[in-house]
Amino acid sequence: MKNRKANLPVGIFDSGLGGLTVLAEAIKALPQEDFVYLGDTAHLPYGTKSKEVIIKLAINNILFLLRQKVKFVIVACNTTSAVALPYIQSYFNVPLLGVVEAGVKAAANSSLNPMGVIGTPATIASRAYQNALQRANQKLKVYSTACPLFVPLAEEGLHHSPLAEAAAELYLGKYRGKINGLILGCTHYPLLKKVISNTLPQVRLFDSSVEVVRFLRREMTEQRLLKGGKQRGRITIFLTDKAPYFSRLAYEIIKRRIKPLIVNNV
Ligand code: DGL
Repeated sequence: MKNRKANLPVGIFDSGLGGLTVLAEAIKALPQEDFVYLGDTAHLPYGTKSKEVIIKLAINNILFLLRQKVKFVIVACNTTSAVALPYIQSYFNVPLLGVVEAGVKAAANSSLNPMGVIGTPATIASRAYQNALQRANQKLKVYSTACPLFVPLAEEGLHHSPLAEAAAELYLGKYRGKINGLILGCTHYPLLKKVISNTLPQVRLFDSSVEVVRFLRREMTEQRLLKGGKQRGRITIFLTDKAPYFSRLAYEIIKRRIKPLIVNNV
C-alpha cells in the first residue's frame, strides 16, 4: 500500500540554478513525480559563506519547502550537504537527502585511486568528502581543490567558453596524470563536464547529481512514497531573486520552458 504522502511533491533546493542538474536527473528517473525546486538566488554563492550562515539559509529553505507540503527534500547543494546537513538533519520530520554520501559511494565503489574532489571553498574546507572517502577506503589517496570560479561561470551561462577552459586549466591542470577519478562536488560543475574532461582526458568523473537520484529512488521505494501512475509530473520552480540567465540554463538542463516564481518570503 502507498504511503499517504505519496502524492505530494518532492522538494529540491540549491543556492542557485546549479541544482537544476539534480532536478534534471530526478525528472528522468521519476517522470511521474511532481517536483518543487527552490533556488536561493538571492543568497548565492553559499560556497564562500560561514557555517552559521549556511545553516541558517538551509533551515529557511527547508521550512519553505515544507510549506509547499513536500514529502521528501533533496539537499542538492553540496555546500549545504557538507556543512549544514550534519547539524540539522535530525530536527525535521521529513526525509532529507544530501548529495555527499551518494557521490562518495559511487566513487569509492569504482576502486579508482587516486581520487580527486572539487567543490566550493566551504565544501572543501569542511572535509566532508575527503573524510567520507577515507572512511570508505583507507587506502584511497584523495586530492581536493576548491574551484570557486566555476559557479559564476555556470550561473552566467559561460560554462562552454574559453574562460571556463582557462579556469579548468588553472584549477585542474596540476592533476593531469595524477588522478584516475574526480568527484564533481558542486551542483554547478556537471555543466562544465566537457571542459573538465578536456583538461583531464583520462579521468572518470563522478556526478553527485546522478548518484543522489539513485538514492532518492531507493529511499522512496522503501518508504512507499513513489507516486506512480502514468501522467507526467508537474514542475514548479521558485527563485528568491531574479536570475538573468534562468530561461537559457533551464532549457539547456531540464529541456523545458518554465517560468520561475520569484518569492521573497523564504
Ligand atoms: N550550489 C553550490 C554547491 O553545490 C555551489 C554554488 C554556491 O557557492 O552557492 O556547493
